[in-house]
Amino acid sequence: MNTIMADMKNGIDREMIARAGEILRAGGLVAFPTETVYGLGANALDEDAASKIYRAKGRPSDNPLIVHIARMEDLYEIAAQVPEQAVQLAQAFWPGPLTMIFPKKPCVPKATTGGLETVAVRMPDHTAALELIRAGGGFIAAPSANTSGRPSPTTAAHVAEDLGGKIDMIIDGGSVGIGVESTIVDMSVPVPMILRPGYINQEMLRGVIGEVVSDPALFTADAKEPPKAPGMKYRHYAPKAQMLIVEGAQDSVILCINRLVQEELQKGGLPAVIASEETKSSYEGGIVCSVGSREEEISISRHLYAVLRELDERKVTKIFSEAFDTPALGQAIMNRLIKAAGHQVLSV
Ligand code: TXA
Ligand code: MG
Repeated sequence: MNTIMADMKNGIDREMIARAGEILRAGGLVAFPTETVYGLGANALDEDAASKIYRAKGRPSDNPLIVHIARMEDLYEIAAQVPEQAVQLAQAFWPGPLTMIFPKKPCVPKATTGGLETVAVRMPDHTAALELIRAGGGFIAAPSANTSGRPSPTTAAHVAEDLGGKIDMIIDGGSVGIGVESTIVDMSVPVPMILRPGYINQEMLRGVIGEVVSDPALFTADAKEPPKAPGMKYRHYAPKAQMLIVEGAQDSVILCINRLVQEELQKGGLPAVIASEETKSSYEGGIVCSVGSREEEISISRHLYAVLRELDERKVTKIFSEAFDTPALGQAIMNRLIKAAGHQVLSV
């Protein structure tokens, strides 16, 4: 299949949006930018179209998709019950990096919800995404546009790397702003529950609706209960090399990583360090990547997946990462980092 590249880095191309809309209405696949990561879109109400997403990504079919909408009133077309708290959250954070889960209406096929009776819904804060959703019929299922198991794409080039030749079109909107996937909150339970941390953190949610809890499975590798978002159980976001997170006081972390890097070099390996702007000059060997500045948290989330992909490409043999427990985005960043490391964390 020839994948069309539609360049919208400098603004909306109406003709291409119309064409992308036709592709979606005909059951095809279009990748598009959002404020979080790139998504792989298909008509969410068309069972066959939604199934194509699973094939293109190599995604397990029990892992449900998020339905993207562009108008608040469309929520009521697919959600059977919308509690008042969800309306308040939508008013506060939509369009934006927040996904909410509701009991589904019959029009949403099981292929979209991975067999569940609930549906995940979000309204992205990105002009090209919103235009595309409208052009495609209003209800676009879109997981992250990566091959299953790889880090989510934050540029159109990442999408082309994974899905070029397998999908109809890629809309290039440049690099994304946030870089980690949306916060997922289950609104179908008595007390709203965070199933995946993201830019909209617990404090921000509590500021709007009061009590919000987190899925306990988020904080442990061996919870007796599996995570409530099916996708969170997979080894996601993973680079090919083995990865270790080193946490503790800054000086101890640097000392420890420098030692581990030397050991790996002596073994003939190619070690890499994921550092920050503030610490990068303290590392003495291997490939040193600064992921961003601790003074500007979003620079870290924005570049995290690109750094993981780059280290794959450079065929490093070990990755040693600092921990990034920053105040607002720390939970979201560490959730991805810990999964990328297969829960290998060393405290020094
Ligand atoms: O930021 C985002 O949310 C991006 C962009 C493209 O919008 N999308 C995204 O989709 O991250 P995906 O498919 O990579 O992740 C969706 C997550 C999975 O962990 C899935 O299991 C969970 O949402 N999910 C979807 N529907 C659900 C449901 N009904 N109940 C529980 N979890 C659900
Ligand atoms: Mg994903």
